[in-house]
Amino acid sequence: MATVIYVYSGTGNSLWVARTLAADLGDAQVASMAQHAEGPVRPEADSIGLVFPVHIWGLPRRVLDFVRRLEPPKGAFIFAVAVNAGQVSRTLVQLGEELGARGLTLGAGHSLALPSNYIPWGGPGSAQHIAQRCEAARTRISQIAPRLAAREAGTIERGPLWQRVLFTGMYKLSFPQVPTMDKAFFADQRCNGCGTCAKVCPAGNITMTDGKPHWQGRCEQCLACLQWCPKEALQYGKKTAKYARYHHPEIKLADMLAQARRPR
Ligand SMILES: Cc1cc2nc3c(=O)[nH]c(=O)nc-3n(C[C@H](O)[C@H](O)[C@H](O)COP(=O)(O)O)c2cc1C
Ligand code: SF4
Ligand code: SF4
Repeated sequence: MATVIYVYSGTGNSLWVARTLAADLGDAQVASMAQHAEGPVRPEADSIGLVFPVHIWGLPRRVLDFVRRLEPPKGAFIFAVAVNAGQVSRTLVQLGEELGARGLTLGAGHSLALPSNYIPWGGPGSAQHIAQRCEAARTRISQIAPRLAAREAGTIERGPLWQRVLFTGMYKLSFPQVPTMDKAFFADQRCNGCGTCAKVCPAGNITMTDGKPHWQGRCEQCLACLQWCPKEALQYGKKTAKYARYHHPEIKLADMLAQARRPR
């Protein structure tokens, strides 16, 4: 196989990007980072893609962990798409450094803006805004794909200097706190105990007891549990009850469950 694209996704934006890119590239397969949660990852491909959301202006913990276990064939072309809501900051530079520390090279790193899933700061915006972002992303993927197919190296996209200066410290400060930030989640009276939140969690961080979800302190803050709850019963702090839920319009719950962590 020519290309394997490893994806991590909370609300389907990155999954949609990975699938769309794979279709454009041809001879490409999409694999789930959550389903490669342990041990060395040794893809049999000469081109390896990493597609993931930007979290708190940097790499999500799962992506970092995955990259540190990646053992690509010698000479493989490695590329990344950092899917975000408009502030990629230093994420792809960080990825380049992580790979570099292991003697690997990030050949190309592209930033792609899609609607925001960070509901503690508000909803994803109007239907028109969502449609515009998705359409613009589709156009950009069509432009990026031929360059990645040609193994064109050199592009490592980054946000403006103010973003990189201001937010790199925020990333470093918050990174150790992320696993226990799940303390702010709770299920309100609309919860019917369906267990979707537990099934969709890439970290296996939710257990169901007495028909209610309980968080276990190893959260990745992907927000899949909250955003995919069919009853909109899941809240994070006091404000999320009044904000609209979001997932990528072309990605369904079944797609997310198919790439979720395999039960142990
Ligand atoms: C915890 C968290 C932190 C985020 N931080 C950023 C950020 O620093 N910059 C940004 O542009 N978007 C940020 N976002 C928004 C997501 O990167 C964006 O909506 C992405 O498209 C979601 O992709 P997914 O659906 O594949 O998870 C954040 C989202 C979450 C859940
Ligand atoms: S997905 Fe929603 S309704 Fe279902 S158990 Fe979780 S919180 Fe309750
Ligand atoms: S508990 Fe929710 S936010 Fe945390 S990793 Fe699981 S699905 Fe993502």
